Amino acid sequence: MSRFRTVAWIVAAGLGLALGIASAAASAGSPVEARQAAMKELGLSMKGAGAYMAPDAAYDAAKVKALMDTMAADAKKLKNLFPADSASDPKTAADPKVWQDKADFNKHLAALGAAAAAAAKAKDTDAFKPAFKAVGETCKACHDVYRMKKKT
Ligand code: HEC
Repeated sequence: MSRFRTVAWIVAAGLGLALGIASAAASAGSPVEARQAAMKELGLSMKGAGAYMAPDAAYDAAKVKALMDTMAADAKKLKNLFPADSASDPKTAADPKVWQDKADFNKHLAALGAAAAAAAKAKDTDAFKPAFKAVGETCKACHDVYRMKKKT
């Protein structure tokens, strides 16, 4: 790891801590690892929340809210995990377009945060279903443009 990258990462990690959003991801070694960990956490939250879509599942508003709150926090955290010098990291599957239009990329993250915050308020399955679908659509909308196929 270059010295610059180390410093940039320490600064990014410091920002995360200052915002009170430190988590397992913040302790990962590089911004690429940290954002991939945060993305994985998003996937796990989607899976956890998806269980409430099963026809026989009892809805648990508190648990769903906790999952959606975690996703909104991840969206916020991810904003700081795409520093410019991580664009050429061999491990990243982020498309270089992320850094060509960072404002648009950040809009996709904001859309995820807003959709998760809205879904957190659902009081029953009927309300949660469309809200959950909207959350999932924000993943796809961003991946379609900004995520490359993972290099093996
Ligand atoms: C703002 C754009 C954006 C949004 C929104 C977004 N992602 Fe991603 N996602 C990416 C990018 C870019 C990568 C590649 C990151 C890298 O490899 O550096 C990625 C990678 C991933 C990965 C692979 C992580 C790994 O182990 O390499 C998963 C899983 C994932 N996203 C799940 C999700 C889910 C689930 C959602 C929605 C709840 C979501 N993402 C929302 C941009 C986004």
